[in-house]
Amino acid sequence: MDRIKIIGGSRLSGQIPISGAKNAALPLLIASLLTDDRLTLKNVPNLADVNLLMRILRNHGVDLAVDGKRPGPKQHIGETFHLTARDIVDTTAPYELVSRMRASFWVLGPILARMHQTRVSLPGGCAIGTRPVDLHLEGLKALGADIEIENGYVVAKAPGGLVGNKVVFPKVSVGATHNVLLAAALAKGETVIENAAREPEIGDVAECLVKMGVEIEGIGSSTLRIQGRDRLEGAVHTVLPDRIETGTFAMAVAATGGDVTLTGTRADLLQNALDTLAKTGAEITTTPSSIKVTRNGADILPVSVETQPFPGFPTDLQAQFMALMTRATGTSVIRETIFENRFMHVQELVRLGAEISMHGDTATISGVGALHGAQVMATDLRASVSLVIAGLMADGETTINRVYHLDRGFEQLEQKLTACGAKIERVTGD
Ligand code: UD1
Repeated sequence: MDRIKIIGGSRLSGQIPISGAKNAALPLLIASLLTDDRLTLKNVPNLADVNLLMRILRNHGVDLAVDGKRPGPKQHIGETFHLTARDIVDTTAPYELVSRMRASFWVLGPILARMHQTRVSLPGGCAIGTRPVDLHLEGLKALGADIEIENGYVVAKAPGGLVGNKVVFPKVSVGATHNVLLAAALAKGETVIENAAREPEIGDVAECLVKMGVEIEGIGSSTLRIQGRDRLEGAVHTVLPDRIETGTFAMAVAATGGDVTLTGTRADLLQNALDTLAKTGAEITTTPSSIKVTRNGADILPVSVETQPFPGFPTDLQAQFMALMTRATGTSVIRETIFENRFMHVQELVRLGAEISMHGDTATISGVGALHGAQVMATDLRASVSLVIAGLMADGETTINRVYHLDRGFEQLEQKLTACGAKIERVTGD
């Protein structure tokens, strides 16, 4: 199993090109199931999660052609995927595939909408809490689906097709919003989703559906009004930049000190996190397509945050921010309100010398003068990258085991950091 070795202490300086967003690419790839026409997606990141989802989509009958070459880490252009689901040859999404990635559960709505029936295994994904799917199922039931759980599978039927309706989510869920939005695109008449997630990736999917012929009002707001169509057309769409990758590198620079320009990304996708970083003493300068992060010698000031749905501070940056706070000049408090068990990085950060105490959903971090390299274990996607940030700050050598979690969501991580002066390498093997 691959490991990552880091010799900490180098400042970062240079440019990092930001990849297309994993969390937009996944539902956009799934949107290909809605049409027999060709959907072309540009700027698709090359990630383990994308490859796994493609295995699932191929199993349903999606045909894929890829073009677009990568000229190297300085000029990232992503890949272009041409997807055609002329026929859905299999309406079952099997346990062996769905259990490895939660987002694959989102095929449920589109296959049901197009084929009027589907069987999708209950999902797996990162071990960060119970992560139920009740909101997905209630939303699809509101559109007329008849749903049973049989032997670990969601069996959904809508013999006459889905019918638009009002769906009021009692809680904000990114996945449930995607699932119902995708299904509503092929439902009869109007669907109104209230308390929809407002994450930019939802907006990106909605924009793509508009190009495919769906009328959608309220994109970017918590009320989406969707006029379903009998048949969707093909489209060409570019995946928006990855705000979590952007925020991760911004935090890495704030942590190590230095001066890095993140290119091909947008500050409005993560304004709350950037404002928080500025409060810690980092300098942030933006253009419409880049973000420069600078910290030259200034202390890291302690700042407390609470994770919230967009536009709040993202849960997907909580672990990275905690890594930064381990070296702050005082005490900060981080409260996780989205997932109940998203603190598995805490014990690993403590192995590197951090002082963190936990109480329920709240971590209290007392900044220390130095972290010290050690062996640590990656436990989930975002937690693993927080260990990379901590390793970059620590004295001496840090080895991160089980880095396959990183490959699920970060494209060319070591190359991008190395290009900015980090001493980081992947050790392949056993
Ligand atoms: C998505 C993101 C993930 C991010 C999360 C929150 C992708 C591929 N993944 O995950 O990176 O951390 O949003 O921003 O885009 N919930 C229920 N019932 C449901 C569905 C969710 O109670 O039916 C709960 C969850 O347990 C969690 C909360 O709602 O506590 C938010 O989860 P949700 O927004 O659905 O997260 P995901 O879509 O799984």
